[in-house]
Amino acid sequence: MSAPGLEPIERAGEDELRALQLERLRWSVQHAYEHSAPYRSKCQAAGIHPADLRELEDLRHFPFTVKDDLRAAYPFGLLAVPRERLVRLHGSSGTTGRPTIVGYTRRDIDTWATLVARSIRAAGGRPGDIVHVAYGYGLFTGGLGAHYGAEQLGCTVVPMSGGQTQRQAQLIHDLKPDLIMVTPSYMLVIAEELVRQGLDPAACSMRAGLFGAEPWTEAMRAQIEARLGLHALDIYGLSEVMGPGVASECVETKDGAVIWEDHFYPEIIDPDTAVVLPEGRAGELVLTTLSREAQPMVRYRTRDLSALLPPTARSMRRMARITGRSDDMLIVRGVNLFPSQIEAAVLLIAGLTPHYELEITREAHLDQLAVRVECRAELAHAAARRELERELQHQLKSSLGLATRVEVCNPGTIERSAGKARRVIDRRPRA
Ligand code: DLL
Repeated sequence: MSAPGLEPIERAGEDELRALQLERLRWSVQHAYEHSAPYRSKCQAAGIHPADLRELEDLRHFPFTVKDDLRAAYPFGLLAVPRERLVRLHGSSGTTGRPTIVGYTRRDIDTWATLVARSIRAAGGRPGDIVHVAYGYGLFTGGLGAHYGAEQLGCTVVPMSGGQTQRQAQLIHDLKPDLIMVTPSYMLVIAEELVRQGLDPAACSMRAGLFGAEPWTEAMRAQIEARLGLHALDIYGLSEVMGPGVASECVETKDGAVIWEDHFYPEIIDPDTAVVLPEGRAGELVLTTLSREAQPMVRYRTRDLSALLPPTARSMRRMARITGRSDDMLIVRGVNLFPSQIEAAVLLIAGLTPHYELEITREAHLDQLAVRVECRAELAHAAARRELERELQHQLKSSLGLATRVEVCNPGTIERSAGKARRVIDRRPRA
């Protein structure tokens, strides 16, 4: 069952893995305590010391790190090494307020490349493959993270970055890549462009894609696989903790991203009470870095909602597909929902496409949710659109219990993004 060329730790026994984690965890917490004053203050306030960490389970007594800690320490306050030792900076994609900056030492960059190489191999990539990278290059970790990993595996990298969609399609046709790394939403935009250029996306050369940086559903996976004739695999990560490649899915099982547990220790907590939940329960993913030098993160609250699942293709645990972020949850007239639930409902209807957006407004103190979604080209006329609107309204009412406004529009109406898709437009007045 196991793929060739695995690193020994990918098939180690549980005892060996836990022993390695404990050793690295103790180093990492000690390193953060000694060299990062904000984290030391938190520990002191909580009356806890790295020496209290005797078993992996003891981690739950340590304070969390949250995004605001990074903002407060902007730009370099959380560094645990002298700034001169950094070889790279990246920034998070924060949409509001001060940005956050993360730093990497040479060793951090090497670890990151190793984990992305491991992720590409898990997706079926091999040395000598051509890898088309359409994640954005720059402060965003997607492009350069994918790039260094693909190079480390021994692949030929096409550093396309995001945008220039015509060029993307042309190079995919001309260079015949084996793999693609891109956001799932932008993959669909590239597929549309292939069609526009008279090419058949399903006949493209790509065997697999590593898709991530934004939430996507199983229904979206099915769409992408059918449209492009490739294996669509989930890759997860976040800049605060490293970038892409914290976890990644194996092509032989396609059953959730394997968390590379030799470098990250995962916990799932109840997002409201912060209590650690047992394996299998859904909650907020909390990650602790085990090897990071520049900016160790102890119990970083990702806000991403997932669950820990037992190992299958590798010795390490998997994470359930992210259903949303706790701060992305929409509360519309008392109903809690995530954009991914709308995506799942939309894709149950054969005449609709995965190009959609949600708009929330407040009218006379009542929240209104409008779903705008494009229909398939062959249904782009008024009567068919009205029928699809009725169908989707019914679907949303029965799956979410929520009356929504639905607008089915013609192909090409909804704005395309060359990176992370913006699904929600919230026009409610800010509190
Ligand atoms: O998006 C890193 C990345 C790049 C991951 C390329 C995968 C591929 P940030 O910009 O810091 O970093 O955004 C991190 O994006 O907390 C999740 O909310 C979301 N996210 C990332 N991967 C996935 C995924 C990169 N596979 C934030 N599924 C995270 C769902 C994802 N959400």
